[in-house]
Amino acid sequence: MAVSDGNKCYQFPKDFAWGASTAAYQVEGGWDADGKGLNIWDTFTHQGGDRVFKNQTGDVACGSYTLWEEDLICIKQLGLTHYRFSISWSRLLPDGTTGFINQKGIDYYNMVIDSLLKNNVVPVVTLYHFDMPQAVEDRGGWNSEETVAVFEQYAHFCFKTFGDRVKLWITINEPYILAKYGYEDGVFAPGKSKKGFEVYQVAHNMIKAHAKAWHAYNNFFKIEQKGLVSIALYSDWAEPFDPNSTEDKEAAERYLAFHLNWFAKPIFVDGDYPEVMKAEISNRSKEQGLQSSRLPEFTNEEKIMIKGTADFFCLNYYTTRKIKCPSSENVPSYDSDRAAEGLKDPDWPISGIEWLAVVPWGLRKLLGYIKDTCGNPAVYITENGFAQSDPPTFQDLQRWTYFQETLTEVLRAITLDEVNVKGYFVWSLIDNFEWTSGYSVRFGLFHVDFNLADLPRVPYHSAIEYSKVVKRNGLIS
Ligand code: NOJ
Repeated sequence: MAVSDGNKCYQFPKDFAWGASTAAYQVEGGWDADGKGLNIWDTFTHQGGDRVFKNQTGDVACGSYTLWEEDLICIKQLGLTHYRFSISWSRLLPDGTTGFINQKGIDYYNMVIDSLLKNNVVPVVTLYHFDMPQAVEDRGGWNSEETVAVFEQYAHFCFKTFGDRVKLWITINEPYILAKYGYEDGVFAPGKSKKGFEVYQVAHNMIKAHAKAWHAYNNFFKIEQKGLVSIALYSDWAEPFDPNSTEDKEAAERYLAFHLNWFAKPIFVDGDYPEVMKAEISNRSKEQGLQSSRLPEFTNEEKIMIKGTADFFCLNYYTTRKIKCPSSENVPSYDSDRAAEGLKDPDWPISGIEWLAVVPWGLRKLLGYIKDTCGNPAVYITENGFAQSDPPTFQDLQRWTYFQETLTEVLRAITLDEVNVKGYFVWSLIDNFEWTSGYSVRFGLFHVDFNLADLPRVPYHSAIEYSKVVKRNGLIS
C-alpha cells in the first residue's frame, strides 16, 4: 500500500516498476551495420534540407549498437527494475518482411534482452518507434492497407523470437505523433503533408495493425508466454482556459478527442472513434464539398476486432495546454486546431525545448481522466521527461525539481484518486537524437558527449537523485 498523509505522499506501491526509455533510431547508430536495412529516418535525415537541426542524423547517435554494455552500466547505476527500448524493424527484417531475416539483428536484441534479465531488469519492448523500414514505405507504408498484415507478421516474428523472455510488449509508439507529424505537418519522416487526408488513413491502418498484433499474441503466444501487449499513447492534458466556460470545456473534450481518444477510445472503449471527432471532420469535409468524411470508418467486424486490444495502458506525458474554443473569425487550417485551440500559460516555465511547458499537475488530471474514461486500466507512464538545451548543466536542479513534483503528482493519483499506476519510465536513459531537434536538446539522465569517439555516458544530478527514489521506492520527504 502507498502511504499518504493528506497531500504529502511518499511511498510507492510494492512492485512499482521504475524505468527509463529509449528508442532504436535515437540511440543505436549503426545505421548500415551488419545487414540492417534502411528505414524512413535514415532516408529523411540523409536527404538534408534543414528539416533536422544542422542536418544531423542518427547514423552514429549514442552508438548503443556497439556500446550496449555502457547503457547497461547506466541502467545498473540507476537500479532500474525495468528498461524500455525499441526494436529497429529494419535491423531485424531489412525489407520489413520475414522473407529475409538478419541473424545479426536477432543476435543483438537477444544480447540486450539476456543481459537485462541477467541483471534482474525487466525488458519492455516497443516494436515500432517511428522507424518504418524504407522498403515497406516504398510499398505504400501506413497509407496502404497491406501494411497492416506486414506489421502483424513482424509482430508475430518478434513474439516468436523473443517472447520466451519478453513479457511486456508495446506495439506502436505514439501513433498520434507519427500520423500528425509524419503525414499532416510533414516535419517527421516520411515528411508528407497532405493536410487532413493521409493523416486519418495512416492512423486507421495503425490502429488495425496494433489490434491484429494483439490478436496474434493472444491467439498464438499468450497461453505459453503469459505476457501483456499494449500501445503507447501520447497526450497533453487539456485544461479549459476558463473553467466556468461551457464552450472551453467542450473544446477541451475535443482536444482530448483529437489527441488521446482518437486511439484510446477505439482500443480501450468501443472500437470506434470519438463522436466529436467524427462530427468535426464530417462537417469540415462537407464544407470542402467532399462526398464523404475524410475520417475513414471501421466496419462492424473491425470495431469488434479492435475493442479491448490492450492489456494495460501506456501513457507518454510531457505537458499541458489551456484550451479555448477557437474564434470563428480566425479559421485555422488543421481540423484539430479548428476543434480546439491549445495555449501555453505564460506563467508556466518552459524546459529546454519550446513545446515542453512544465506542468506536473497535468499528469494527475490526465491519469484521473484515463481511469474514468478507459475502464480503470493498469497504467504505465512509459515516458515522461524534461529537456535541457545544449550545453546542458550537470547540476540540473530545476529538472530534478520537475521530476520530484511530477512523481508527487503520480503518488497523489495513486493514493488519493485510486488510479492503478503500475510504473514510471523517465524519457530518457541517455541524451540522444531528438528527431527534428537533433542533438540540440538533451532528455537523458546521463550525459553523452557526442564530440568524443567513445561517446561517454556521465550521470547528471537527476540520475543520482532518481537512483535514490528507485532504491527507496519512494520520495524523500
Ligand atoms: C516522445 C517520443 O516517443 C520520443 O521519441 C521523444 O524523444 C520524446 N517524446 C521527447 O520528445
